[in-house]
Amino acid sequence: MLDQKTIDIVKSTVPVLEQHGEAITTRFYQLMFGNHPELLNIFNHANQKQGRQQRALAGAVYAAAAYIDNLEAILPVVKQIGHKHRSLGIKPEHYPIVGKHLLLAIKDVLGDAATDEVIDAWAKAYGVIADAFISVEAEMYEEAAKQKGGWDGFRRFIVEKKVVESDVITSFYLKPVDHKEIADFQPGQYISIKLDIEGEKFTHIRQYSLSDAPGKDYYRISVKREAGTPNPDGMVSNYLHDSVEEGEILQISAPAGDFVLDTDKETPVVLLSGGVGLTPMMSMLKTVADVQPERKVIFIHAAQNGNVHALRDEVEELTKLENVTSYFFYDSPTEEDRKNNRFDVEGYVTRDWLDEKVPTKDADFYFCGPLPFMKAINRSLTELGVQEERIHFEFFGPKAALV
Ligand code: HEM
Repeated sequence: MLDQKTIDIVKSTVPVLEQHGEAITTRFYQLMFGNHPELLNIFNHANQKQGRQQRALAGAVYAAAAYIDNLEAILPVVKQIGHKHRSLGIKPEHYPIVGKHLLLAIKDVLGDAATDEVIDAWAKAYGVIADAFISVEAEMYEEAAKQKGGWDGFRRFIVEKKVVESDVITSFYLKPVDHKEIADFQPGQYISIKLDIEGEKFTHIRQYSLSDAPGKDYYRISVKREAGTPNPDGMVSNYLHDSVEEGEILQISAPAGDFVLDTDKETPVVLLSGGVGLTPMMSMLKTVADVQPERKVIFIHAAQNGNVHALRDEVEELTKLENVTSYFFYDSPTEEDRKNNRFDVEGYVTRDWLDEKVPTKDADFYFCGPLPFMKAINRSLTELGVQEERIHFEFFGPKAALV
């Protein structure tokens, strides 16, 4: 337990560090990767280049420090980050490395303002925060390993089937090379894939939501080809699309993530997705149809047009069921789309439309998609009076980008 003086120093300096947050974490990464280039095998280079991870880590450390005498209060956030860390293979021995370089960066940026007393207090606080993460993650590693079909670290899977779903989205069906059982998962969870790309010095790890229902002998991911290979965001997805064929081996960590459908509830469920954000929603839709056929579910998907709209046949098949309804929104439909009646609404999902078509009074809402889509849906639902506990969302990328 920290002494009161340390707590006071840490809490009173949180705003100063926040103010210099980005400068400190940018310096932190420079120093850390300089001394530990091997960590570039774990960190997402695209997030680094765009400063997204800088903001995510800075935000989390300061948020935690502000609660240093009551970390229990932020346990859900620690767990959410813990899922990501476990999926990436972050281990206790990594924490002192981060701590050491964070303190060095604070000293560098704050100069004389970072007195020994301040640095000491932050060293102690970081230790407490790190311990909270390490213990949450230790439990997660244990659970992943002991679960039926589960495993620790990365396991080899073969690409059994590769299916083009639209102009931009392709599915990969993955089975374990050892032919043994695979861990069950909850709809909404993701896996990490670790790739060795020819000509690249470091491995690349990316998370992809599982897009099929649990209970199969394979995992399916559906990957969007991100624009342009010079764009670091696109490197991994383009590699998967262009170079990973059936029969190829991929390294995968066990399913993780806390954005999951609550199948204990019986409330109507509204699943909203924009673009490739449909992947966790597909898993949720199929799960409700499988295990809660009496539950009302409304599947709303927004895409540019029919050319980039993936998995529509699977959704249409399910809408034959009595309790499943779907709506497709296209903002730029093609002539073909119009001729073949491929969509229900032209334009975006609006508040008024939601008010008219979905049971906002008692439904649970799950959504995932690009940032503007997520913000618009969140705003609409809040304005319609949907309570926070009925709003669940996932954003592909560091959560801080949403703030
Ligand atoms: C992701 C916080 C320690 C490696 C994240 C995220 C946060 C965070 C907020 C983003 C989560 C998300 O997007 O869902 C923290 C805090 C730490 C800590 C507060 C210390 C107490 C570490 C350590 C390592 C690490 C010790 C390994 C050396 C990563 C990686 C990601 C990540 C690789 C994925 C994002 C990316 O690659 O850009 N962490 N982290 N973190 N963290 Fe940590």
